[in-house]
Amino acid sequence: GSAEKGEFKHFMLKEIYEQPAVMKAVLEGRINKGHLLEQAFGSEAGALFDQVKQVQIIACGTSYHAGMIASYWIEQLVGIPCRVEVASEFRYRPVVMPQGTLLLTLSQSGETADTLAALREVKDRVIGTLAICNVPGSSLVRESDLSLMTNAGPEIGVASTKAFTSQLVALMLTTLALGRRTGLSAKREQEILAELQQLPELLEKLLALDPEIEAMSAAFAEKHNALFLGRGTLYPVAMEGALKLKEISYIHAEAYPAGELKHGPLALVDKDMPVVTVAPNNAMLDKLKANLQEVRARGGELFVFAGQDQSIKQQDGISVIRLPAIPTLLEPIAYTLPLQLLSYHVAVLKGTDVDQPRNLAKSVTVE
Ligand code: AGP
Repeated sequence: GSAEKGEFKHFMLKEIYEQPAVMKAVLEGRINKGHLLEQAFGSEAGALFDQVKQVQIIACGTSYHAGMIASYWIEQLVGIPCRVEVASEFRYRPVVMPQGTLLLTLSQSGETADTLAALREVKDRVIGTLAICNVPGSSLVRESDLSLMTNAGPEIGVASTKAFTSQLVALMLTTLALGRRTGLSAKREQEILAELQQLPELLEKLLALDPEIEAMSAAFAEKHNALFLGRGTLYPVAMEGALKLKEISYIHAEAYPAGELKHGPLALVDKDMPVVTVAPNNAMLDKLKANLQEVRARGGELFVFAGQDQSIKQQDGISVIRLPAIPTLLEPIAYTLPLQLLSYHVAVLKGTDVDQPRNLAKSVTVE
């Protein structure tokens, strides 16, 4: 059953390896003849989506990182404003909900106290609420107008993995549903859905990098700090990578959008500060490469998850793991997986309790 580790040493590793299958599960029954079936969100979904003028996303932790990525997608593909905020801040400040706001909550468990409280706080001031959640019948799902299940199956490891990548797929489906109303063409929708359907195969290829990633992890075992860099949708991926490393290996890790380096964090860089970078072949690559040179010039050791661009080469002080070609929109989903594996292997080397890290609970049901 899915609550057993089987051949895997930890639930976290099992859940990382389940991701190709989970990508199938989250798309299952949601696409018909190349088009999104919006009934998947609930029978009232169409009428509600028609009225949406902006989106407010609320979540905590890893789910918050998924929300950040979605905000890039929504503003790019739907062209309406999208804000995202951690629930523990949102619930306690006077928030302005402009007319036509859809409140989108993200949660693996559907029982996170702050996320639920934020929903209850503003539910009467928005045109509708949508929960993207992994637990059917959870409080969040019951209390929201619409819901889309991520179908990832039970996640036992405290460090969230498959829940995150499945949330991203669900968020892309949400983006398509809204985009239909603002001029995203049927053709583009079809193309994006076809890309999403390549995910199982793509993530299998990424899992094949595991031995390389495990070898890389040795460089982190004795370190006390790490920086994670990314730009665009890969910035929240860097945040997620840093959170994973903190949670299970207890190494202090921080993520920065690479362009912020010279505004402060560059002062931290020396030979004892490994810098992990997610560097796909997208429009920001040249900018990112300039940032990496700044790190190298200060003696910082680079660990780069690179796209097909051959100019980022393995050399003294730069370790490169090359990823297969990935469609731009799928980059945040794909680049997350190697970072999950990196944290996992560092934690195993350090001998921590990977599935039950100290001081943390799987579901934060109290404030
Ligand atoms: C992720 O690895 C964490 N353990 C944590 O940040 C988690 O994502 C957060 O508590 C939110 O949980 P939820 O998705 O169940 O609401």
